[in-house]
Amino acid sequence: MGKCLIVGGTGMLAHAVRSLNAQGHHTTVIARDTDKLNSLRSACPYPDRFNGISLDYEDYDLLKQRVKNEQLDQDGYDLVIAWIQSNESHALQTILNELVAAPVRIFHVLGSRSDLSAVQSSLKLSHNHTYHQVQLGFVIENDSSRWHTNEEISDGVLKAIESGDEDEVTLVGTLEPRDMNPWLKTK
Ligand SMILES: NC(=O)c1ccc[n+]([C@@H]2O[C@H](COP(=O)([O-])OP(=O)(O)OC[C@H]3O[C@@H](n4cnc5c(N)ncnc54)[C@H](OP(=O)(O)O)[C@@H]3O)[C@@H](O)[C@H]2O)c1
Repeated sequence: MGKCLIVGGTGMLAHAVRSLNAQGHHTTVIARDTDKLNSLRSACPYPDRFNGISLDYEDYDLLKQRVKNEQLDQDGYDLVIAWIQSNESHALQTILNELVAAPVRIFHVLGSRSDLSAVQSSLKLSHNHTYHQVQLGFVIENDSSRWHTNEEISDGVLKAIESGDEDEVTLVGTLEPRDMNPWLKTK
């Protein structure tokens, strides 16, 4: 059984959290809203293996302290999934600096417009970290494009985790043709 930390796990990654919990992994989720954390705990097959940490991950001092303390109980995390909206955030680096287990597999979920190389080079990884990026593209359907559903996103992340450590980058869906990116419809 693994010990997983899922950052931003109450939204589109909630299904992935439930699946990991159902597989018997201990799941720790970071998000702000305690109601959403409590609902997710209730939806997990093994609520006693669910730990919700309610905080704003942009409060780096608090984030550092909580990750440090929680790990004392868990003996470290061996899997980290991070969905952090801003590429400018230092939240993931703050967490990486505190990880005590070795090795740790890290799956960094990124949006369709993220510059993957720039994101990776902005992170300081230790030799104990195996770092993967899961980029969320979009779906082409009936000559039109749409974003993925939450379940499709969670399944894409789970597949990346299951496929082992060979692929450094997993694309969920497609990024082509670029002029069909649903983001352009919102501009
Ligand atoms: N390419 C794609 O297909 C794609 C890409 C991105 C998004 N989307 C779609 O867009 C929808 C909305 O996306 P979303 O970005 O709102 O993702 P989301 O996964 O629905 O929600 C963000 C998650 O991060 C947490 N969070 C956000 N800010 C936080 C903070 N400062 N500190 C701690 N936790 C924080 C949220 O919980 P709290 O609010 O409780 O903190 C929640 O767990 C998704 O449901 C998805 O369907 C699609």
